[in-house]
Order: sequence, then C-alpha cells, then structure tokens
Amino acid sequence: NSLSYTEKALEHFSNPRNVGVVKDFNGRGEIGEIDCGDVCEVTLFVENEIIKRIKFRVYGCAGAIATSSAVTELAKGKSCEEALQLTDNDVVEYLGGLPEQKKHCSLLGIRALKQSIYDYWLYKQLLETGQVANRAEHEKIKEDLFQQFADKY
Ligand code: FES
Repeated sequence: NSLSYTEKALEHFSNPRNVGVVKDFNGRGEIGEIDCGDVCEVTLFVENEIIKRIKFRVYGCAGAIATSSAVTELAKGKSCEEALQLTDNDVVEYLGGLPEQKKHCSLLGIRALKQSIYDYWLYKQLLETGQVANRAEHEKIKEDLFQQFADKY
C-alpha cells in the first residue's frame, strides 16, 4: 500500500520549515497523537498578539513532519485569534492533499499550535498579575497544578 504524498507534502517532509525551539518563546504546546504515538511540540514568540516566531519539533511519521511544517508556515505572522481559526483542513489544502490514512497527522500540529497559544495567554495573564516572573516559574506552576489534578483523579 503505497502512500501517495503530493510534491508539496514530500518537499515539506524532506525540507521542513521552522524546525527547533524558539529561543525566547513565550508560549509552548505539546501534543501526542494517542492512536499512533507521535508527538509534536510548538514554541512561539508572540508580540502585540502577533506570532512573530514559531518553531516545531516532532517525533513522528513523514505526514506529521510535513503537516507540522505547514502549520508553522500558516501561523507565522498571524494574530493569535487568526491562528486559532486554522483547521486541519487548511493544512491538508496547503499541502495540496494528504493520503487518506495520513489525514489525522495534520491534527497533531494544529492541536500543538492551539495549546501553545493558550499557554501564551495563560503566561501573559500570570505575568501581568505578578504571579510569575519568568518561564521557569510558569512551567513550575503548571506542573504543580497538573500534579494536583493527577493526585485527585
Ligand atoms: Fe501519527 Fe502521522 S501516523 S501523526
């Protein structure tokens, strides 16, 4: 069963854009796709609600790499609100299509993008209210909160 990726999808797979971690990121999301075990992380730097820089790291299949690359290209330069309107369909369209068995891969990057924006908004709020002073404190608060939930349920 050969998968027929489009030229553009193959091109993004062999030459993915925006790979790595944004140095001074102020939003970070990480999503695992339960069905296949692939994981995608998105970091971004937002200024005046505009996504100025965005990068991804993915542990996953060719489809996950191509679609995550596409997500970062689509989100770059958009406002947070605009970026949240992006759907997995936009990603598939951007790549000129995806093999049917690979369509779910596009969800990975989109979900990680959304989470990174929510995380940015949370971080901004905590900064503004003086509850955290930097990213390290932010990560610690999130970890403690999640641990509280985990202990409870
Ligand atoms: Fe899981 Fe592609 S097979 S993301």
